[in-house]
Amino acid sequence: MIVLGIESSCDETGVALYSSEKGLLSHALHSQIALHAEYGGVVPELASRDHIRYLIPLIEQTLQQAGLNKTELDGIAYTAGPGLIGALMSGASVGRSLAWALAIPAVEVHHMEGHLLAPMLEEVPPAFPFVALLVSGGHTLLAYVEGVGQYTLLGQSLDDAAGEAFDKTAKLLGLGYPGGPALAAAARKGRADAHHFPRPMINQPGLDFSFSGLKTHALNTMMKLAKKANNPGAVSLGQQDTADIARAFEEAAVDTLMIKSLRALKQQHCKRLVIAGGVSANQYLREKMQQQLDELGGELFYPAVEFCTDNGAMIALVGCLRLQAGQTQPLEIDARARWSMQELSAINSVLSDF
Ligand code: KG4
Ligand code: ZN
Repeated sequence: MIVLGIESSCDETGVALYSSEKGLLSHALHSQIALHAEYGGVVPELASRDHIRYLIPLIEQTLQQAGLNKTELDGIAYTAGPGLIGALMSGASVGRSLAWALAIPAVEVHHMEGHLLAPMLEEVPPAFPFVALLVSGGHTLLAYVEGVGQYTLLGQSLDDAAGEAFDKTAKLLGLGYPGGPALAAAARKGRADAHHFPRPMINQPGLDFSFSGLKTHALNTMMKLAKKANNPGAVSLGQQDTADIARAFEEAAVDTLMIKSLRALKQQHCKRLVIAGGVSANQYLREKMQQQLDELGGELFYPAVEFCTDNGAMIALVGCLRLQAGQTQPLEIDARARWSMQELSAINSVLSDF
């Protein structure tokens, strides 16, 4: 079965072709970073229009790369939520209509399920069950995963998502948009122990997170430094001070994610951890987690960097699994801004494939 996957929930247009026999055949991505950069964040209306502009050319490009004709497609998968409703509608309309025109089935994919199962694109995929730490720009959660669609929520962020905290702190530091990779790059030049940021909620029981305080802590540290330099009105810092704060923030955020993930593994009597979503591209997070899992005698899985952030490959993969299990979407287009992962149905028939 060959499935076309379409991702358009936020600011990347992702398209991919996935084969149930051969795996990923081709993929293409158009990032809207340049479009939104001057506004310091995603402008939803601009995002929708840009998706419309790029979807068809990207579909043609992926077909060409794979040496396929659209008549050879067996199904089409598109992200139906959660995300920006206009952006979702762009991809969903194109995907659902194309499937209708080709008389093939279409299937809706949950964006976060896409992230969660993205490590299945790798040569060595994780076996079920595992604990998953999903860290993206819009969501931060820990889940116990027993199979495709079998997700038990263990904890989540009560306020900002981890990626959002990276982005907001980067913005405060004048590092631009999107902030995660920029902050991580600045942190590399930061000095150890220049500042110590709190690790939010680690002393409370449970597996929930809270990241909004870290951004406030960064702001307070900036103001203290400005005052010390006798320049209380200053909004920008020197390069070293910026790097020091970036490092202290990254260490605190990563430590917090690590402590809660290890707690979740212990609670579930599990030694297999998957990290996925945009923040799982973070090198420091990967290294720290690997170190901890090695000490524990456990296994760590994460997607290739290009499949950590939004992409069409993860949508094509999940779509293929769900289409193979017989799930299809009727002609109506039902994109939704909010959609709980717990509402997803389990598919047992394909579990043996992994
Ligand atoms: O999964 P994703 O592409 O989009 C959502 O579904 O939200 O995640 C994007 C988030 C952004 O907040 C971005 O700053 C963050 O992932 N991110 C990173 C890194 N690369 C992307 N955060 C920290 N370090 C990185 N290297
Ligand atoms: Zn995402």
